[in-house]
Amino acid sequence: MPGALETLADRLRAVRRVSVITGAGVSAASGVPTFRGPDGLWRRYRPEDLATPDAFARDPALVWAWYAERRATIARCRPNAAHAVLAGWSRPPRGWTVITQNVDDLHLEAGTERLVRLHGSLWDLLCARPCRSGATPWPDRRVPLAPCPPVCPHCGGLARPAVVWFGEALDPGALQAASAAASCDVFIATGTSAVVYPAAGFLHEAASRGALTVEINPDPTPATAVVDLAIAGAAEDVLPRIDALLRAP
Ligand code: OAD
Repeated sequence: MPGALETLADRLRAVRRVSVITGAGVSAASGVPTFRGPDGLWRRYRPEDLATPDAFARDPALVWAWYAERRATIARCRPNAAHAVLAGWSRPPRGWTVITQNVDDLHLEAGTERLVRLHGSLWDLLCARPCRSGATPWPDRRVPLAPCPPVCPHCGGLARPAVVWFGEALDPGALQAASAAASCDVFIATGTSAVVYPAAGFLHEAASRGALTVEINPDPTPATAVVDLAIAGAAEDVLPRIDALLRAP
């Protein structure tokens, strides 16, 4: 009787269209704190209280202090085995799609192709107003940022992280690409608590279009009971094991 990983590997070998959606848990082994786990100094704030346009309007210095600390932490982090496997799967001959909610860019650093970034990047800034020229994100990898809060180089007003905050619309191009990727044969959700929409909805979209749905997560989530295959484990352990099965003759 084959185990869950062998069953999944057999299916993956037999199909062409595979999509993987990732969340903060995929970067946990790299040292990036997850949002809903224990998070040191920021434990008393919920992401919903800091990552919003209202929070930024009320106290931009507090919101920027949170982002500046995350940028400093993430600048020291390198992609882990989960990022490496997904990057390999994204390249030819497979060309599988990776959709991420993460803003740390570790998937990019690992060399992932066809990456859909639903929530933007922590390493891009945007004019908070926005002025005409500052409406297009610009890269800024400085750690620490000086000044902090940083300013828009075009109008001198406040800059903000080019990430999607609660209550804001996702980029239509990214949404469209993620929705297209939900038309697939196997849809894998890993490292996400599956509670933040619209990202969490792509799993259901994939299921309704006939995909085999899989979750890889050490802890149960709202998705665990509804997926076809729930694998309890860490992404950086499970994904390399699946990859090894795929490579086996
Ligand atoms: P969460 O912090 O909500 O959830 C992280 C998930 O990763 C949890 O379900 C953990 O059980 C799981 N996890 C932890 N370690 C893991 C590991 N080694 N391997 C696999 N899974 C592991 O993070 P997200 O679901 O990404 O939004 O959060 C979704 C969105 O909420 C984020 O993109 C962000 C946040 O507020 C915005 O910034 C708009």
